[in-house]
Amino acid sequence: MAVDLLLGLQWGDEGKGKIVDVLTASYDVIARFQGGPNAGHTLEFEGNKHVLHTIPSGIFHPKAVNLIGNGVVIDPVIFMKEIENLSPYQIDFKNKLLISKKAHLILPTHRLLDAASEAVKGKAKIGSTLKGIGPAYMDKTGRNGMRMGDLLADDWEEKYQRLLKKHLALLEGINAQIEYDLISMQEAFFESVKAVREFTLVDSEQYIFEAQKAGKKILAEGAQGSLLDIDFGTYPFVTSSTTTAAGACTGLGIAPNKIKEVFGIFKAYTTRVGSGPFPTELFDEDGKQMGVAGHEFGATTGRARRCGWLDLVALKYSIQINGVTQLMMMKGDVLSGFKTIKVCTAYDTPKGRIDYLPYDIASEPITPVYEEFEGWEEDLTAMTRLEEFPKSFLDYITYLEAALETPIRIVSVGPDRKQTIFR
Ligand code: GDP
Ligand code: IMO
Ligand code: MG
Repeated sequence: MAVDLLLGLQWGDEGKGKIVDVLTASYDVIARFQGGPNAGHTLEFEGNKHVLHTIPSGIFHPKAVNLIGNGVVIDPVIFMKEIENLSPYQIDFKNKLLISKKAHLILPTHRLLDAASEAVKGKAKIGSTLKGIGPAYMDKTGRNGMRMGDLLADDWEEKYQRLLKKHLALLEGINAQIEYDLISMQEAFFESVKAVREFTLVDSEQYIFEAQKAGKKILAEGAQGSLLDIDFGTYPFVTSSTTTAAGACTGLGIAPNKIKEVFGIFKAYTTRVGSGPFPTELFDEDGKQMGVAGHEFGATTGRARRCGWLDLVALKYSIQINGVTQLMMMKGDVLSGFKTIKVCTAYDTPKGRIDYLPYDIASEPITPVYEEFEGWEEDLTAMTRLEEFPKSFLDYITYLEAALETPIRIVSVGPDRKQTIFR
């Protein structure tokens, strides 16, 4: 049985949590393949709003199994807080939530190293969520990391102490002016580790093989967005994992030829949280309006998200990198009330007009070239059928589909599960 992937095509926060929750009804397994608690995936239903960080967004469906893959990095403290927040739902975690033994741990000192590294960068800082993501993946690729499976062995505390010693030496070397209380951070960590060991830790790739053999439907849930990918994103202003389709192969043990649909999710405009290049960023009233109407504040850090027009140059790049087969357009409702809608179709650079992401996107000045469309006044949030959409919104969708050469299968017009229209 084939596996489908769902990935963000921009700089994250496209609405992945919402759509995974909507799609879960048609899947048996929802599997997160990368990232960690830097993610904040929001879903809303029946008047409830939830933000998930490490737990896959299919957790509210009684049938589906949710799996945290080997490619994910887990902070036991944040994980246990998420579990606590889910307590009103009486979820059968033992059977419905599986964690890969190969997933790496985020230690308290990973968070400190993240903070120290950002502090010494000054103005050049990445704008990290400070959840310890970069340092945890560094220990993974440096072959020093601790994995969830290590917690089941008697000597796990010795491993922890060895890594702690190394981290403290690194912190001293970085010599950043950060304040912290490692003792209480460690207390919380040890307490959470005890609780995490009681969860179902599995050889997740084996579970995925068997699920495939048994004909189960699997949906791989991405975190962050393609433009934050460690290789293909706007380096160095990226996260530390493979957020693109290939990440589902390495982060779950899925063979490339088993992947069927690749769902690419994007906002009808663009947002970015943290530092780094953003060619279509707006600093005017239009940008403010997007931020206010779209409630553009980070689900993990609460930071205001930078807002701007849709960037087709970047979107086409993401579609290609991922082999997107179906698009999902989110937050079209946020654009109601704009007289004119703009879409960036090329970049003017010191080397001339281009229609691809340049290597030096982080350092060269880029002026976006826009096409303009008539806006619409109508509130879309109560609309449930395509026929109700205003003509200019339908024209916008048709234009994008043609420009992106990929069908838009879902149009989302609000944060609730129900505000989802299939085409
Ligand atoms: P994720 O990280 O990709 O899961 O996205 P986030 O949850 O960080 O951010 C998306 C935000 O937009 C959340 O607050 C969602 O509740 C909200 N949202 C999702 N889809 C829509 C939509 O179509 N319209 C509006 N207005 N809000 C939406
Ligand atoms: P979801 O899954 C938006 C951004 C941070 C920062 C950069 C590196 O909710 O879409 P990191 O903490 O990984 O070292 O931060 O990446 N970032 C996100 N931006 N959505 C996310 O996740 C993000 N995860 C990380 O703001 O710029
Ligand atoms: Mg988010």
